[in-house]
Amino acid sequence: MKKILITGGAGYIGSHTAVALVNSGYEPVIIDNFSNSEKSTVAGLNKICGREISCYEVDCLDRSAVERVFLDNDFSGVIHFAAFKAVGESTRLPLKYYSNNIDSLLILLETMSKFGVKDIVFSSSCTVYGQPEILPVKESTPRQLAESPYGNTKKICEDILVDYIKSGADSRIVSLRYFNPVGAHPSGEIGELPLGVPNNLVPFITQTGAGLRKKLTVFGDKYNTPDGTCVRDYIHVMDLAEAHVKSLEYLFQQKNNFYDLFNVGTGNGNTVLEVIKTFEKVSGQPLNYEIGLRREGDIEKVWADTEKINNVLGWEAKYSLEDSLRDSWNWQLKLGKK
Ligand code: WQD
Repeated sequence: MKKILITGGAGYIGSHTAVALVNSGYEPVIIDNFSNSEKSTVAGLNKICGREISCYEVDCLDRSAVERVFLDNDFSGVIHFAAFKAVGESTRLPLKYYSNNIDSLLILLETMSKFGVKDIVFSSSCTVYGQPEILPVKESTPRQLAESPYGNTKKICEDILVDYIKSGADSRIVSLRYFNPVGAHPSGEIGELPLGVPNNLVPFITQTGAGLRKKLTVFGDKYNTPDGTCVRDYIHVMDLAEAHVKSLEYLFQQKNNFYDLFNVGTGNGNTVLEVIKTFEKVSGQPLNYEIGLRREGDIEKVWADTEKINNVLGWEAKYSLEDSLRDSWNWQLKLGKK
């Protein structure tokens, strides 16, 4: 069975990707420093998979510890999720973000080279596009100045990967530009963990629905969109997870020294008010919200052109926004019961 290293594998997208890998006959091995994840996620993962998933408490910045994991395991590929990702925090602590997000990639690439592991899928973000002029956004759409140090680390890491392949590296790399990951595994055993007050829309909605937050504030309703609220491409985390498996299998078929990148979204955009209405439908209860001021740094509208990933990887999103919100709500209700 092919072993796949998942850095940050105890995180939201990493843990769901571990499930998708097991479902496709791979053996995931997780490293995570648990700085933004919990060990209960690994327990939930083991329950879904019906077996113990190998997990090392390792920081990707600890080169010798990372090398020890490579010594212990003969990896066929790597999926690199481990990174800090709070947009607001990154503007307050840029050096923490640059050193963590960039150095961890460099250490990983050097270790992969040392152990002859060629294939890596890198977790990037649609944030590199900023506010595109033309929508839907294609992979060829020019990247714009990053809105935050977090977004800039994603751009810089993509550039590192491109330069590394241009240098002739014996490696095969795919960058995946995620749109807005939402939802949870239908079992309710794993999902997005609410560490502190959620920045993201859907966890704030489900916590409001569960009575943990008094009210949702909609950050502005005077944008140039169908109902004045911002538009995003909300993709179910299980669809996103599957895109990682397809990317690995695509890499396994390529010649050496290879790079490609894909948008990973549904191809549809939904406004904030549409998300709220969909949540009210799946939860069967009204959501307490008010319209407030715009949030600094928010872009108005973005959604993916998914033609490339559909055609090249044979992947497309299967879950709807309703499915995503139903699974997020189911996860919140389980959390609330703990
Ligand atoms: C979505 C919409 C808000 C909260 C961020 C990162 C991006 C990626 C995904 C890591 C926006 C509105 C939100 C609230 C609201 N993260 N909103 N009230 O900003 O599109 O993307 O998360 O890769 O890099 O930038 O996601 O969920 O924060 O916001 O009205 O309490 O919901 O204004 O329009 P965003 P989000």
